[in-house]
Amino acid sequence: MQKKHYYIKTFGCQMNVYDSERIAAILQNMGFAPASSQAQADIVIFNTCHIREKAAEKVFSDLGRAELIKQERALDGKDTIIGITGCVVQAEDEQIAKRAPYVDFATGPLTYHRLPEIITKVLRKKSAGTIIDTEFPAESKFDYLPQANSSSGCAFLAIQEGCNNFCTYCVVPYTRGIETSRPVEEVIKEARNLISKGALEINLLGQNVNSYHGEDAGGKERGLAYLLNKLAELDGLKRLRYTTSYPADMDDELINCHRDIPILMPFLHLPVQAGSDKILKAMNRRHTAGDYLRIIEKLKKANPKIGMSSDFIVGFPGETDKDFQATLDIVNQVKFIQAFSFKYSRRAGTPAAVMPEQVEEKVKKERLETLQNLLFSYQSKFNDSCVGKTTSVLFESKGRHKGQLIGRTPYMQNLHVEAGKEFLNKIVDIKITGATTNSLSGILKGE
Ligand code: SAH
Ligand code: SF4
Ligand code: F3S
Repeated sequence: MQKKHYYIKTFGCQMNVYDSERIAAILQNMGFAPASSQAQADIVIFNTCHIREKAAEKVFSDLGRAELIKQERALDGKDTIIGITGCVVQAEDEQIAKRAPYVDFATGPLTYHRLPEIITKVLRKKSAGTIIDTEFPAESKFDYLPQANSSSGCAFLAIQEGCNNFCTYCVVPYTRGIETSRPVEEVIKEARNLISKGALEINLLGQNVNSYHGEDAGGKERGLAYLLNKLAELDGLKRLRYTTSYPADMDDELINCHRDIPILMPFLHLPVQAGSDKILKAMNRRHTAGDYLRIIEKLKKANPKIGMSSDFIVGFPGETDKDFQATLDIVNQVKFIQAFSFKYSRRAGTPAAVMPEQVEEKVKKERLETLQNLLFSYQSKFNDSCVGKTTSVLFESKGRHKGQLIGRTPYMQNLHVEAGKEFLNKIVDIKITGATTNSLSGILKGE
């Protein structure tokens, strides 16, 4: 029998990228091989994101296209299974059955370890209509997921999932459930496996990663600082990162890791969202702008070389020009070297969606443009200041042009260089020769 092929399209955050890698491992263990394109695939999976309206709507247009491809393949006598996983499933299970009834299965982010069972049912055509599994299960999916079959130089490792913060704009606590942490030993085992498969960098993931509280072998609860110290002892690991952190959970022990652990990269993504205390309160964030600035001060004391990154939301309900100015002020104070910024998107079921003072679309658009121009100016300045320096780069992929590789600096900047593929998945010293807002270019040291 000819081998069956799979195709996975991933939306959303790094946790979804991690989940897609696990889903690929499940499918490989079931005998599927990766397809070179969607049209070649016997099973197509969309791993979806619900964070903003645009992300969620994109899925339905992609599903429509997948159904057309399925019909074309059917003309050639080929069956196609279409499945959806991820946060849209958790939030919109009823919508999926209505808007895309041709979907064969839909599982939420916490139940995709049951895919072998579900896919087997679909293959045997035992189910009529869409199989939907959006339970918040009692078991941990991590106990059932296969270890990665391969790893690139730069690997993700989920250590924590879910969020108890309930920011008033955010769907994550509803799609990923309450916070759970994986045991320390399990994380170390997975890290060892990744390193043995070639990982030089591990990025620890969690929706609220710095509230990690996993049990150690003796049943004692341990925080992220303990885990980072343990992982830093592993032979062969050259770089460590963790993302995404919540400001109120940045304790002193964790801050000190940035002083004491040499392989912990000097870069931290710590979303502040807004600069106005009134808006932060309405967002139900448990920090003020002042608290945030004090944390940065401590981090800079622990490691003066640290570069900061953040997420911002503009046009949250009730945001006035003065509130927005406070966001610009905090950007001017911290001088983020990288950032993501978004227009507030109304999400059904969240408290902010029904707040009375919604901000006009036109105002949101203007504020986003103003904020992004300011953020880009700091990012550009930082990138320019790197020119002439030597930096270590972990090369992750081939570039657009022949003979080009793309990698990341310790500060997560993209850097491209003319180099052979023998440097892929290696850490190499590079002299930085050029900079734009979004990337750096360089040459191999010694050339
Ligand atoms: N757990 C992470 C990531 C959450 S989603 C964290 O707490 O930072 C990533 C970013 O999306 C958030 O930081 C926020 O800036 C943005 N976001 C979340 N909900 C949003 C909404 N309803 N509208 C616009 N942006 C949103
Ligand atoms: Fe969402 Fe807030 Fe939790 Fe981040 S901290 S996932 S923004 S609820
Ligand atoms: Fe999106 Fe879910 Fe991640 S909503 S941002 S994929 S946690």
